[in-house]
Amino acid sequence: MSDHLETLFEFLRFPSVSTDSAHAGDVKACADWIDTKLTAIGLSSEIHPTSGHPVVIARNAHKEGRPTVLIYGHYDVQPADPLELWSSPPFEPEVRDGVLFARGATDNKGQMLAHILGVGETMAEDGDLPVNIILLFEGEEEIGSPNLEPFLEAHKTELACDIVAVSDTGMVAPGVPTFTYGLRGIACLEVKVTGPSADLHSGVWGGAVANPASAIARLAASLHDAEGKVAIPGFYDKVEDLETWEREAWNTLSSDEETLDLTGSPCLVGEPGYTEVERRWARPTAEINGIGSGYQGEGSKTIVPSEAHLKISFRLVPNQDPDEILGLAEEHLKTQPLKGITLEIERGHSGKAYVMDPHGKWGKAAQVALAQTFPKNIALIREGGSIPIIQSFKEVLGVDTLLLGLALPDCQIHSPDENFPVENFEAGIRLNRALLLELAKA
Ligand code: BES
Ligand code: MN
Repeated sequence: MSDHLETLFEFLRFPSVSTDSAHAGDVKACADWIDTKLTAIGLSSEIHPTSGHPVVIARNAHKEGRPTVLIYGHYDVQPADPLELWSSPPFEPEVRDGVLFARGATDNKGQMLAHILGVGETMAEDGDLPVNIILLFEGEEEIGSPNLEPFLEAHKTELACDIVAVSDTGMVAPGVPTFTYGLRGIACLEVKVTGPSADLHSGVWGGAVANPASAIARLAASLHDAEGKVAIPGFYDKVEDLETWEREAWNTLSSDEETLDLTGSPCLVGEPGYTEVERRWARPTAEINGIGSGYQGEGSKTIVPSEAHLKISFRLVPNQDPDEILGLAEEHLKTQPLKGITLEIERGHSGKAYVMDPHGKWGKAAQVALAQTFPKNIALIREGGSIPIIQSFKEVLGVDTLLLGLALPDCQIHSPDENFPVENFEAGIRLNRALLLELAKA
């Protein structure tokens, strides 16, 4: 095995699951490991504790007259369950047919390490970098980066830079250099509905009291109209329409057939008037992420459940404000005609959408580096996923972000058997070397 791959294996063995407090020690150990790696390649690195998981920051000696590039990545991962659906244990990385399987292989450890190794190789060969570098790695991206924006505010001066580069998005297909110039935002809500004070016999009491499971189902169903549009009044008011060039370019990059194949869904559904790729990359949505109530075990249990739960996330597009959307959603849920239940709504994390001009000087430089690394024609895309801190870089540090994703559509991020082709990992290291050179020239 190559040294690079061995290093990635070490990184992937930390179960750095940010959402699970039982793994807080693993997240910290992972931050320590990164700090040691960064120091070993000759950067000065520091671990910054936060009220959550630590931030690791490293830099070279900055020199006058060179652009300052901030590279961002996250070392936390999503939970690995359901474990039984993995072909090999999620925190015991394994390569099969040139593809590396592990939780975090793509999202984001493989891509993050490609940044570090690209920087490290350049330093080792040239003794220095052609740019001033700041590497910023957080352990809370998968839980909405609750501490990073305040951290940016507090460290604005030290983090001042000209441009940010991030590999935490996708490529449209193998070998297709992909430059992402937009991301959707996100806003989360949790709903709790309570009825009787305990689960009741559904024969004795059913018919006389409200059923919280029925209530939650009504609330869930109220989010969309029969056609698939979000039914919350005002939801689309500030949405900007897609540009013609985007629609033309995107619709050659994704198709119904491919999306059916990748998702295993029997047919495609969604907002009328837009293609599947337009709906995923540039239209806002409401998704139920979890719903629960009552008896879930074997056979039947005749009860009226006492409570029911719903987890909702909205994906947002530029110009939609997460707080405003959550306000509209709360209003909509509260005015549904439900009797005999108590409704509690709690807001979760949120972050704005991001869009930049892909044709500016930094964007062009990144695209040159991408074109040097991958053989096919470049794709300019927006993505449906969210990285909330990217818009904060814009608002707090005043800079744009170059999104240079290396994930393939079948890398299964957040799913069982998450994987990353070793080839993409190695290409990522070359991409980073090329990127530093191109940004220095821009
Ligand atoms: N890397 C993803 C975001 C992503 C995925 C962007 C695919 C583009 C294509 C990131 O780690 C992620 O999963 N973000 C979360 C954000 C959230 C938890 C605040 C997401 O999109 O659900
Ligand atoms: Mn993720």
